[in-house]
Amino acid sequence: MALIAVTKESRAGETRVAATPETVKKLIAAGFAVTVEAGAGLAASYPDADYEAAGASLAKTAKAAVEKADILFKVRAPSDAEIAALKSGAIVAAMLNPYQEKATLEALAAKGATAFAMEFIPRITRAQVMDVLSSQANLAGYRAVIEGAEAFGKAMPMMMTAAGTVAAAKVFVMGVGVAGLQAIATARRLGAVVTATDVRPATKEQVESLGAKFLAVEDEEFKNAQTAGGYAKEMSAEYQAKQAALVSSHIAKQDIVITTALIPGRPAPKLVSAEQVASMRPGSILVDLAIEQGGNVEGAKLGEVVTTANGAKILGIPNLPGRIAVDASALYARNLFAFAGLFLNKEGAFAPDFEDEILKAALVTQGGAIVHPSLKA
Ligand code: NAI
Repeated sequence: MALIAVTKESRAGETRVAATPETVKKLIAAGFAVTVEAGAGLAASYPDADYEAAGASLAKTAKAAVEKADILFKVRAPSDAEIAALKSGAIVAAMLNPYQEKATLEALAAKGATAFAMEFIPRITRAQVMDVLSSQANLAGYRAVIEGAEAFGKAMPMMMTAAGTVAAAKVFVMGVGVAGLQAIATARRLGAVVTATDVRPATKEQVESLGAKFLAVEDEEFKNAQTAGGYAKEMSAEYQAKQAALVSSHIAKQDIVITTALIPGRPAPKLVSAEQVASMRPGSILVDLAIEQGGNVEGAKLGEVVTTANGAKILGIPNLPGRIAVDASALYARNLFAFAGLFLNKEGAFAPDFEDEILKAALVTQGGAIVHPSLKA
């Protein structure tokens, strides 16, 4: 029986956990054994006793959990000590941030680990249930609006009171992938007037169907901005200049700007310049969801609230899903449970088929080397 280890996350501020009592129960029913490091779920409000009641054994330390495990489930990359404790050939599944954390991949490869970067799960129908980018981005989009509303000194909905009318907040969402769509929906539910922009034409209809207004330079380049995989291309300098000119007058009138624009494997595109931030009214808020990939807003700082000379605030909150850790863990853990199903053969025995399309796409290290085509030097 294959043993899955789940340990406490070691990154500062990481509150999520890679398995919940619910998924432990399901993993055991599927034929795995599970060991959980004591305290692993505490920051996400999952107590040890619930893991034990679900059938997991508790390990006192991460080392004790990892050294016997065939599979290690993590939210973020394992620590150096955890990698050192891995059995050779053990499977690791985590959000490894592979483009930015090469050293971890090298350490995993050197240890002989079979590591999967959950970010690389392909966006095919069969893999939707394992799509960690979507499960986490959706919650990040929701949370970004909550953080923006919290930092904003005015109300979101319009209110008619005896003392006069409170105006609805104007929210502008830049980048309408999974996070952006949830940000639009959340801001609408709170009563804001919402506009949004993206470079992929398919987003126009999605934005409008959520009751928001779409704003974009709809030229020839825009018509071809979506790759076959559904992602955005890096736009030309000319397009970006046209885009900046279009959104400039718009941004100046906004109360809350939420940016979520990403291009896989590239730094985040700069969408809001310092001049545009300076054009906003005092008290305006910018929430930069792309901050961990370099940020969409000029002047945004990772882990900081930057107050500009004109009194706008730029929120560079890292790990927004970690601020909604109970749900983020629950969804991520279900993603991993579904992924673990790929390690079992038709008879339910532990026998990963490395030719499987999904495993192949997510595999980053195996047999002592970094094997993913996009990561090889
Ligand atoms: P992402 O996180 O890579 O990027 C966020 C958004 O930023 C994207 O909509 C992108 O077009 C936009 N963007 C990039 N450069 C920009 C610029 N210069 N200006 C404005 N916006 C810019 O995207 P995410 O959320 O991962 O979604 C990517 C695609 O995957 C979408 O087409 C989405 O519908 C699709 N998807 C498919 C799934 C499936 O089939 N299983 C599941 C989830 C998403």
